[in-house]
Amino acid sequence: MAPRLRIPIREMEIDDIASVYHLGEQLFTSEEFPILYRTWDPYEVTEYFSSDPEYCLVAEQKGIIVGFLLATTIEKEGTAWKKYGYLAWIGVDEAFQRARLGRRLYKELEKRLAEDGVRMVIADTDGDNEAAIGFFNSLGFSTRAQHLWLAKTLHRKARKGKPGGQFAPETEEEEAGRL
Ligand SMILES: CC(C)(COP(=O)(O)OP(=O)(O)OC[C@H]1O[C@@H](n2cnc3c(N)ncnc32)[C@H](O)[C@@H]1OP(=O)(O)O)[C@@H](O)C(=O)NCCC(=O)NCCS
Repeated sequence: MAPRLRIPIREMEIDDIASVYHLGEQLFTSEEFPILYRTWDPYEVTEYFSSDPEYCLVAEQKGIIVGFLLATTIEKEGTAWKKYGYLAWIGVDEAFQRARLGRRLYKELEKRLAEDGVRMVIADTDGDNEAAIGFFNSLGFSTRAQHLWLAKTLHRKARKGKPGGQFAPETEEEEAGRL
């Protein structure tokens, strides 16, 4: 286990938006996590930041963002617990992983959610993301349901007047620009 680092954790600020997005880009790669790669975009950061700034946290080491967490709450009338926390995104710079930074980010979120009346936190991740599953299990999360991601590639016709015109990519490698 890496040594525990005393890296400060704080609420995200507007100037952190680009750093958080780029750290996510480094982590959610098309090779390792194709679904996370496809669903991570700048709007994920800006939308969570605008709607729930108190649940958007960062870890900053010497002016550099090395970890982040984006979360929200969902209110459901007519359910036993009414208010759920949803941890949408969490990422820690590879060089800082296994130093309890992710755990500290989550614990800060959990404290805030509990203060706001949340009694259940939900998170999801790819079924083969062993790091995330190990991480969530270590925090007391248990698998409640299997969730399948399905995908279908939509093929466009070649553009008129363009011999050899452009088509939608046929394979994941093409889409990711690796071919
Ligand atoms: C998941 C992630 C956020 C964990 O952050 P982290 O700071 O490295 O995790 P911590 O050091 O706080 O780990 C706490 C515990 O989680 C578990 N854990 C963490 N990483 C693990 C791994 N790679 N494999 C198995 N268990 C792991 C361990 O039980 C660990 O405790 P230990 O180090 O005492 O054994 C990090 O691996 C990451 O950024 N992954 C890429 C992004 C991602 O997949 N995010 C989740 C989907 S949004």
